[in-house]
Amino acid sequence: MSPIEVLGLPFQNPLLLAAGTAGFGQELDGVMDLDRLGGIVTKAVSRDPRAGNRAPRVAEFRGGMLNSVGLANPGLERARHDLIPWLSRRLRRAHTLVNVVGFSPEEYADVVSGLDGVPGLAGFELNLSCPNTSAGGIEFGADADCVRRIVGDCRRRTALPLLAKLSPVVPDIAGMAVVARDAGADGISVVNTMPGMIFDGATGPARVGNGYGGVSGPALLAVGVLAAARVVERTGGMPVIGVGGVRSATDVRQYLRVGASLVAIGTAALADPHLPERIVAELERGDG
Ligand SMILES: Cc1cc2nc3c(=O)[nH]c(=O)nc-3n(C[C@H](O)[C@H](O)[C@H](O)COP(=O)(O)O)c2cc1C
Repeated sequence: MSPIEVLGLPFQNPLLLAAGTAGFGQELDGVMDLDRLGGIVTKAVSRDPRAGNRAPRVAEFRGGMLNSVGLANPGLERARHDLIPWLSRRLRRAHTLVNVVGFSPEEYADVVSGLDGVPGLAGFELNLSCPNTSAGGIEFGADADCVRRIVGDCRRRTALPLLAKLSPVVPDIAGMAVVARDAGADGISVVNTMPGMIFDGATGPARVGNGYGGVSGPALLAVGVLAAARVVERTGGMPVIGVGGVRSATDVRQYLRVGASLVAIGTAALADPHLPERIVAELERGDG
């Protein structure tokens, strides 16, 4: 497979590890060859460390997985001085993209400023599915003004590639992608998880400690492929990272077929950390 150029960067193949499902790569070191991938999107980084939600944080069910990790992460300082430099040093060919989260528009921009210039960091992915606690908890990505402000402020803080990641439950995902593009985003990642809730049988407790969480896995493939198709079409072909439900090279090709430039795998790689390498090998052989 010949390298592809996306966001001004050469990617040896289109497969990335999706945000939040590979941490900062350390847990996977020695388990899989991270450098076989196109890149890794890190766990979300917020300004301050976050402990996250009560356990259990993940629950499998027919059709996928529910997670309520609650954006647990070690915060900007550790990401900047330790985790991202470690990952960037480890990778020679795969790119490091950092997923950024904020609980206010200023926080996104502060995290981007704080990480800009970390050697080896290739770009930013803004997780816009975070609830805006000062506006009743509606996620930032559902409000065009918030998207415009967050993307615009982050744009002013970095010259690196900037991606906006959107949830599949916004009413007009392609329209929101256009808002992000016009505010300065270089690309769009679709999709994040969908809100969901599941109990232990008819009378048991909620399967995740927080009561509800985000649905990922197989069922998201169809949702993500449609979102990617719509965003590619409406934005006139801007770079799109397709995410959701990928389990095989064929699934990757579904995203590529509708015009996605890169494709990320999350849940399926949590279950089988060797799967991403097998998918890369299949893509290289032209299988699937
Ligand atoms: C355990 C877990 C943690 C996640 N954490 C993040 C995160 O920190 N930031 C983010 O933008 N998306 C996060 N996601 C969403 C994934 O990056 C991806 O968009 C979603 O899971 C759909 O892909 P999949 O079906 O291949 O898992 C997380 C997903 C899971 C399952």
